[in-house]
Amino acid sequence: MSEKLRVGILGATGMVGQRFISLLENHPWFEVVTVAASARSAGKTYEEAVGGRWKMDTPMPEAVKKLVVMNVSEVEKVASTVDFVFSAVDMSKEEIKAIEEEYAKTETPVVSNNSAHRWTPDVPMVVPEINPQHFEVIKYQKERLGTTRGFVAVKPNCSIQSYAPVLTAWKEFEPYEVVATTYQAISGAGKTFKDWPEMVENIIPYIGGEEEKSEMEPLRLWGEIKDGQIVPAKEPVITCQCVRVPVLNGHTAAVFVKFRKKPTKEQLIEKLVNFKGVPQELELPSAPKQFIQYMEEENRPQVKADVDYERGMGISVGRLREDKVYDFKFIGLSHNTVRGAAGGAVLCAETLKAQGYITKK
Ligand SMILES: NC(=O)c1ccc[n+]([C@@H]2O[C@H](COP(=O)([O-])OP(=O)(O)OC[C@H]3O[C@@H](n4cnc5c(N)ncnc54)[C@H](OP(=O)(O)O)[C@@H]3O)[C@@H](O)[C@H]2O)c1
Repeated sequence: MSEKLRVGILGATGMVGQRFISLLENHPWFEVVTVAASARSAGKTYEEAVGGRWKMDTPMPEAVKKLVVMNVSEVEKVASTVDFVFSAVDMSKEEIKAIEEEYAKTETPVVSNNSAHRWTPDVPMVVPEINPQHFEVIKYQKERLGTTRGFVAVKPNCSIQSYAPVLTAWKEFEPYEVVATTYQAISGAGKTFKDWPEMVENIIPYIGGEEEKSEMEPLRLWGEIKDGQIVPAKEPVITCQCVRVPVLNGHTAAVFVKFRKKPTKEQLIEKLVNFKGVPQELELPSAPKQFIQYMEEENRPQVKADVDYERGMGISVGRLREDKVYDFKFIGLSHNTVRGAAGGAVLCAETLKAQGYITKK
């Protein structure tokens, strides 16, 4: 039997599900053995179920083409085939919350891309370079669920990945007020230009629920575990506008920051390029070697040139300069469906495996 951990993907036929399939092709630790989706796809081969909906640049991996799609709702059946699952199903928030906990209760860890559990007090929401210590809350969650190895862990929203790591790198200068505008790619809505022609040459100044997530989720990343729950930090206060732009992949953020201990530009750059965390120390398979790159050129980072930096797992920062109203301003860029979605979840799962939370059943 393979030594790799057996993985199932819930919502495997969707855009994020497809990204999981692509990223896990030839993964050294994880092997996709089960794909699950709605009743519409169940019973078909993965290739048939996806049909013309394959949205990745790389071809569908041979190893998954003939897998027969299972029904996400048949929890025991799906769970019996795997060591853990990634979740990327599109259902109502309440349904997702319930079904992810059902999987956990079958002693199957769930690493989720969905927002449903991001504010469940004993569910860790983790960027492994920022707050891997939050995985310690899993022991309290297991007590609540009555499990020994099953739990739910989540990753945060794609929009915050272009600035939350940057603000974390600058923590010792005590940023206390942040204004951000995000310029978000259409793949964040699971779309391409073919299926969203309205977005060609267009800007839409509204993304439902995104501004609240962009303002609040970083505070949870910077929170602490108290009495078995994650208690969010209170600062920095973040105000955000989220705009949909005609870009396929890559969320850009334009950010202004005020600091209590005002640093120099050189100090800020030094903190960015030296910022690393557990994934770099453990050399996890999906970890970017250099998490944040600083670009000196005035016209960088650019989506087309820089979105795939470190295979989409790194953050590109540029145009850092002093500001008349705030202390500093900068531009950040991250890949929304890699670091911001499936890749971020894969890195969480690698951290969980390395720390002994995910094992063979
Ligand atoms: N796209 C992004 O960049 C991004 C980023 C962060 C978070 N998310 C979140 O991730 C989730 C998936 O997004 P997506 O863009 O991949 O969506 P998607 O392309 O619409 O895919 C949805 C997936 O969920 C399955 N599904 C739908 N209804 C279901 C049901 N009732 N029971 C079981 N499975 C069902 C679909 O299966 P069928 O093919 O059988 O219908 C498909 O596999 C969403 O909750 C989204 O909000 C997306």
